[in-house]
Amino acid sequence: MPHFRKAADILNKYPIKYVVSTNTMGNALIVDPETESAVIAPKGGFGGLAGGFIKHTALANVRQMSQLLRPDIDVVGVGGVSSGTDAFELILCGAKAVQVGTCHRVEGPECFDRISAELKAIMKRKGYQSIEDFRGKLKPNQGAKKDGHVKKKVQANQNGIVIQPLTLLVAILVLVVGFIFSRPKLCQGL
Ligand SMILES: Cc1cc2nc3c(=O)[nH]c(=O)nc-3n(C[C@H](O)[C@H](O)[C@H](O)COP(=O)(O)O)c2cc1C
Repeated sequence: MPHFRKAADILNKYPIKYVVSTNTMGNALIVDPETESAVIAPKGGFGGLAGGFIKHTALANVRQMSQLLRPDIDVVGVGGVSSGTDAFELILCGAKAVQVGTCHRVEGPECFDRISAELKAIMKRKGYQSIEDFRGKLKPNQGAKKDGHVKKKVQANQNGIVIQPLTLLVAILVLVVGFIFSRPKLCQGL
């Protein structure tokens, strides 16, 4: 995306050690339908979105910035980290460290040890010794077959039902065969 390129081109000109990506994402408003009022008091209730809602945008931003910035500029991944898996995904997208905001606010400082232990467990299961074993090594989606599978899954989630092409073909065949076999009887009836 052009604005990422423009931002990275500017940052790359300066002796920067790290970039934090992202912050909260605006514009957001929480409405209480019972009291019919804004939940947050200042600024007319307008604020920035944080937590799980922004995780996928944070992943994308971290991925793009870590690809476009000079290799000696580290990216700190922020946005929706509340588990070791979230931290793992951001590191996979190129983050050298991760920050925790909302989860700390909700759970308290205990979240750091928990997230860290979960991340370590994932690394152990996958046989990684250090974050450099997988940092920035996100793989592209492998092939059209898998793409189709993902598309079908998304379709199923959104619509609750998926009619696969083969199922449709079999249904049409059954109808055609049924029609052919029922024709003589229909003729006899006439
Ligand atoms: C309670 C709270 C206070 C925050 N205060 C600041 C702040 O003063 N300056 C800032 O740049 N970001 C602030 N943030 C944004 C966080 O640093 C972080 O970028 C954002 O919440 C996204 O991370 P998260 O999804 O882990 O919450 C704050 C976030 C929270 C939840």
